[in-house]
Amino acid sequence: MKFFVDTADVAAIAELNALGMVDGVTTNPSLILKSGRDILEVTKEICGIVSGPVSAEVVSLKADEMIAEGRKLAKIAPNIAVKVPLTWDGLKACKTLSDEGHMVNVTLCFSANQALLAAKAGATFISPFVGRLDDINLDGMELIADIRTIYDNYDFRTQILAASIRTVNHAAECARIGADVMTAPPDVIRKLASHPLTDAGLAQFMKDWEKTGQKIL
Ligand code: E4P
Repeated sequence: MKFFVDTADVAAIAELNALGMVDGVTTNPSLILKSGRDILEVTKEICGIVSGPVSAEVVSLKADEMIAEGRKLAKIAPNIAVKVPLTWDGLKACKTLSDEGHMVNVTLCFSANQALLAAKAGATFISPFVGRLDDINLDGMELIADIRTIYDNYDFRTQILAASIRTVNHAAECARIGADVMTAPPDVIRKLASHPLTDAGLAQFMKDWEKTGQKIL
């Protein structure tokens, strides 16, 4: 499973990228707001760090305006994936931008039928939002599994980009089900390394090592 980082925080992206943990980046208008940066500038900087797909989201609601914005965003760098919302206009924009050869990430997907439409419109990525479904007491992971089954049934090439990943359990479940990609905030990716038994085992080893009175360096 590929790891995308869900942030516009350049320092966090650079740190994870140096560890080989970054296969791509996703941003959205809320993350751009949080960064306090200009969308074109920060996206260009991210594309200079990461060689994989970097999603940049359009903000218009009409297809023709989304297409114009998408073309402008795609000029930032060759690894831009234009992010469009899963609306009827978004699907139109997806089809046009995909036909022009751009990578397209269709976002805000909350149903298997929406994912089916995105695949038919030529999306490179579909972004089902796991955490936001869990927030309203629905099962986000069940949606990932349903889309996996549907895409495999018909050999759709659209990649499942599990989004709104909030917990380490979300990440492991996505990998078990076979999501192609998950996108998670830097903190969630860092937490994947943590386990209480690792901490306890290490503390014991340190205690015993001190008792040996030895040094390696
Ligand atoms: C994905 O592309 C979205 O930016 C993101 O995963 C949304 O996550 P949230 O529901 O935690 O805001």
